[in-house]
Amino acid sequence: MGAFSRTLSALLLLSCILPACVSANEGGQHPLLFQAGDEHGVIQTPSTGVDSLDVPASKAPCFPSAEFTMPSTVPNTTANWWCPMNNEYAFMGFSYSLYNCQSLSQMQREFKDMKTKFKARYVRLYAVCDRKGFYDDVITAAWDNGLGVHALIWFGFDNTPEWKDRRATLFNTLHTHPKARFVTRALQFGSEPLYDWVLTPDELAAEVVKARKNLTSIGIPVTISEMAWGYQLHGGSKSVLEAVDFFDIHMLPYFSQQASTSDKAWPILMKDHNWFVTNGLGKKMFWSQNGWPSKSYPGVEPNSPDAVADIPNEAGYYKLLDEHCTDFKAMANGGVGWFWHVYSDSQLQGYGLYDTSGQLKFPFQPKIAC
Ligand SMILES: *[C@@H]1O[C@H](CO)[C@@H](O)[C@H](O)[C@H]1NC(C)=O
Ligand SMILES: *[C@@H]1O[C@H](CO)[C@@H](O)[C@H](O)[C@H]1NC(C)=O
Repeated sequence: MGAFSRTLSALLLLSCILPACVSANEGGQHPLLFQAGDEHGVIQTPSTGVDSLDVPASKAPCFPSAEFTMPSTVPNTTANWWCPMNNEYAFMGFSYSLYNCQSLSQMQREFKDMKTKFKARYVRLYAVCDRKGFYDDVITAAWDNGLGVHALIWFGFDNTPEWKDRRATLFNTLHTHPKARFVTRALQFGSEPLYDWVLTPDELAAEVVKARKNLTSIGIPVTISEMAWGYQLHGGSKSVLEAVDFFDIHMLPYFSQQASTSDKAWPILMKDHNWFVTNGLGKKMFWSQNGWPSKSYPGVEPNSPDAVADIPNEAGYYKLLDEHCTDFKAMANGGVGWFWHVYSDSQLQGYGLYDTSGQLKFPFQPKIAC
C-alpha cells in the first residue's frame, strides 16, 4: 500500500493548485559552490555548453548508445565508457516504478524490450523496493541489456528516516558491485523532496553535496527528481540548484490549470522549462518524469475542467514530444532528453505505454536523433 499511495501522492503533488503556481522567476545567475566534472562526462558547474571534458576522447561507440557492444568482461576503468551527457537529447528511455518489486527475470525481459523495441538508452527508477539485493538485480538486468540507470533514493512522504538506510545500502552496492559504476549513470534524490518538504532546501543541498563526494570516485553524478514548482515553492531553492550536477525534471502538464488536450501542452512545458533556463545555472536538463494519463481517477485528477485523459491524448502527448525533436536538440548543453512516464499501467494506472495485460496502448517509436 505505502509505496503506491506515495506514488499517487507524487502525482497529486503536481496538481499546482496553490495560488503561487507561477514561476518564481527570480532570475539571475548565482555564485557557484562547486566545480564538478570529470572524465566520465559529469556535467561541470557551470557548464559552458562546449565543455571539452564532455567531448568523447575517441570515436568509438559509447555506452549506452545503440551502436555500443557490451564487453565480455568488466573493464577496469570508466574512462571513455559513458556517452557524454552533453550529447544526449530526444527519447532517453522509460521511467520505471519499483512499486511491484520486480524480479530479476521480469527486469531482464522489460529492460530488453526497452532497449530492443524502443532503442532506450536509460531506465529511470522511481518509488522503492526494499528487497535485499534488489539493486544488484537492477545492475544485472541493465548490464545484460546495455541500459544505463538513473537510480533513486526514495524519501517517501511521511518524513520518516528510512531513506538514510536506503542510501547506505545503495551506496554500498554502488561502491562494491563491480558493474555498478558501468551502468549507474546518475543518482537522484526523490521523489519531489522539495515539494514534500522532507528537508529544507539547504539541508537537501547539503545531502546532495555529501552524495556527490561519496560517489565522485566512481563517477556518478547526483541530482534530485523534482518539478519546477517544487523549487519555486521555496523561493527558487537556490542552494539545491547550485548543488545538483544536472536536472531530472518532472513534467506532467495534465495537472496544469491551463491543461486541455495534450496537443496543446507545449506552452505549459515551455513555461517550466524556461524557469530552469533562467534559474538553472546553465546545467543539463532531462525531463525524467514526463507523461500524460489515459484516464483520470482519484489521485490523478486534473486542475483544469478542460483537461482530457484518454488514450488518444496519451498518444498525442508522445506525438507532441516526438514532433519537437529538433527543438529538444536545439536546447542548451546538447539538448534535452526525455523519458516516458511510465513503462506500464501495472506501475501506475493510466500512465503506462503498456496496459495491464501487456498490450501497447498505442504505437510508440520515438526518435532518438534528428
Ligand atoms: C586495464 O585494461 C586494459 C585493457 O583491457 C589494459 O591494457 C590495462 O593494462 C588495464 N589496466 C590496469 C591498471 O589493469
Ligand atoms: C559512502 O557511503 C557509504 C554508505 O553510507 C559509506 O559506508 C562510505 O564510507 C562512504 N564513502 C565515502 C568516500 O564517503
